[in-house]
Amino acid sequence: SQRKTTVVGAPLPRVDAREKVVGTAQYVDDYQLPGMLHCALVLSPHPHAEIISVATAPAEAMPGVVAVYTGKDLPGVNQIGCVFQDQPIFATEKVRFVGDRIAAVVGESRAQARAGAAQVQVEYQQLPGLFDARDALANEEVLIHPGGNLVTHQKVRKGEGAGALDSCAVVVEKEFFVNYQEHAYLEPQGALAIPEVDGSITILGSMQCPFYVQGGVARALGMDKNEVRVIQTVTGGAFGGKEDYPSEVAVVPALAALKLGRPVKLIYSRAEDMQISTKRHRMRMHFKVGADLDGTLRVLHVQQWVDAGGYTGLSTVVAERANSTAGGPYRFPNAHVDTFIIYTNNLFGGAFRGFGNPQVTFAMENIMELLAEKLGMDSVALRRMNLLRVGDLSITGQPIPESAPSVEILDLLVEQSDWANLQREATEFNAANRWKKRGVGMALSMYGCCLHAGGQHMEGSGALVQVRSDGSVEINIGGTELGQGAFTIMAQIAAETLGSDYARVKVLPSDTRMVPDSGPTVASRTTIMSGNATRGASLQLRARLVALAANMLGCQGHEVVVTPGKYSGNGRELDFAALCSEAFRRKLNLFASGWYAPPPKDWDIQTGQGTAYVVYSFTGHAALVEVDLIGGLPKVLNVFAAHDIGKVMNSALFEGQVHGGIVQGMGWGLSENLILEEGRCLNPGFTDYLIPCSLDMPEMDIRVVEAPYPDGPFGAKGVGEPSLISVPTAVAIAAANAVGARPDELPVTPEAILRWSGALL
Ligand code: MOS
Repeated sequence: SQRKTTVVGAPLPRVDAREKVVGTAQYVDDYQLPGMLHCALVLSPHPHAEIISVATAPAEAMPGVVAVYTGKDLPGVNQIGCVFQDQPIFATEKVRFVGDRIAAVVGESRAQARAGAAQVQVEYQQLPGLFDARDALANEEVLIHPGGNLVTHQKVRKGEGAGALDSCAVVVEKEFFVNYQEHAYLEPQGALAIPEVDGSITILGSMQCPFYVQGGVARALGMDKNEVRVIQTVTGGAFGGKEDYPSEVAVVPALAALKLGRPVKLIYSRAEDMQISTKRHRMRMHFKVGADLDGTLRVLHVQQWVDAGGYTGLSTVVAERANSTAGGPYRFPNAHVDTFIIYTNNLFGGAFRGFGNPQVTFAMENIMELLAEKLGMDSVALRRMNLLRVGDLSITGQPIPESAPSVEILDLLVEQSDWANLQREATEFNAANRWKKRGVGMALSMYGCCLHAGGQHMEGSGALVQVRSDGSVEINIGGTELGQGAFTIMAQIAAETLGSDYARVKVLPSDTRMVPDSGPTVASRTTIMSGNATRGASLQLRARLVALAANMLGCQGHEVVVTPGKYSGNGRELDFAALCSEAFRRKLNLFASGWYAPPPKDWDIQTGQGTAYVVYSFTGHAALVEVDLIGGLPKVLNVFAAHDIGKVMNSALFEGQVHGGIVQGMGWGLSENLILEEGRCLNPGFTDYLIPCSLDMPEMDIRVVEAPYPDGPFGAKGVGEPSLISVPTAVAIAAANAVGARPDELPVTPEAILRWSGALL
């Protein structure tokens, strides 16, 4: 399937461009239905407390308040945990973080619902809180859940253990800390629940994973899955923040809609959203790496602590990426990793673009810089000699599969950034300037595409493709469109495969009623999984159309050539629309479903050995950053990105993903600093939580190596997460390098820059 393509690869306009540009796209809060009610949440102001009593009567007496619900009102199970059953939808006995839900108030207007929520009287008995994961692990007095504060302990055991460090010629050791990151999607969390006449519920909402929402709502309301229809509305950004979380958003209006028989909507305010929804995990990582004198890596020894917050959510799944790819893109004959996932009374840790990998990339790439310094080696040469190549064993003992152009990526990055010159120019600039300094940074990463072995049971993905008698095409997929461009890629795959007109392919909103459970839209898996399903369905239809064309053209099927808009053979050609019209007249079935599932992966949870992911994506970033020694502010001047994605499916969308990954990565690296005080977020808004803006954008140079992934559609792998993963580290190393320092925390703040520069003591 690596033949030359014309539709796939081209910078075609997005299928959803028009509605988004002219403003007619309907986000969930744009839906106004007759009789619609609004929800507001009653949230815990305490990080850890017992609930003594909840009085809802004062709220019920408020004008416009229709109902107040608590945990006892759920007809099903008061539980929303997606991996472990540790999270009630409504807390009934105790609260475990600031923002735990106690009750929901339903009102005729949002303002009335909120005013009602403020009147619900909750009496608490405060408990001591735990706000540091490593301390929480050691604490046996304060237990956030009855079973203790350790959620799980994940391991990698390859070769010899810690003792192997003793026989290494050099060892470097350092501890790193990375803070939370807020997703900062422009559209906050929200869902609308509509009761149907047959007793079922339809949910419209902003989300990544309609099948998670379906399962969560069905369990909580005691309904069958076929009674819960979930339709994704146009979603204004997600980045992992709408992976599991929307299930708990949707359950609340669904309960109210079921009870009241009216449509009910819940939309979070920005401050609520920033306090109570998930964040990129705060982590502490202690890395020790041993090597030979020539730079050959021998031993990886890691202990890391993942702060889950009050409930597990996806923390164990996120942590598995930090665990099984802790060593980055490098070869280690010995690896010993301990990853502890721990309850605290902090914010809720969860999925975020990169999913545990950006954290360990920060530690590992800084370790590589330290090791190069200790050995007196060039850090590029050190990286290059240790890069995992096809067939090498990862730290989980998996032979690296085809499509692993790691060395090509590093070489490309060095070339495109003119790395030696970039370093020299920064040095010259610094000699000539007193108050501004420049630094360079480089980071590589390796990302496992698609779900980890631990989640492989959810990997199957479906698609439905229908060709109409006029040659137009409709597609439903189990994946979702989050802004990343998945629907556009699906339209390209179908048009390329069918030979239909790209402009006449419609990709319909993701709807649980149209396709089988296709797992979550996460893990940079949608191009591969939904793409293969769409391709599979399209190939079936193409075969039927080729047979018909052969009959009409008077040739053999294998002689029919499919090009955009035409089926040709025997010196004649048929227009695609005319062919489809004839297919209809001849009662040909032009409706096909596709299903794609990768082969099973072996995994030993005790040793962290086995096939962690189907394939890996290698990425490199280099950055030039200027810091100002008066205020300590960094300015990213250039970012160079080298990407390995198998096949560029749409060159414009590819660049768009990479631009977004760069800016979001810069934010976590340099400016986004979520501040918690006893579990309460002190900067829950974009005035004080500083995401980069258009004026902060650097010059970006984006390059690609296309090494086809044999099992990907047209050879493709994913790019959604690799576009971010090594950016924070590259810019952080660069900013610190400007003042001759090495970072050990993210983000690198102006205070840190001034402290390192000696300007702030
Ligand atoms: Mo993604 S961070 O795997 O939703």
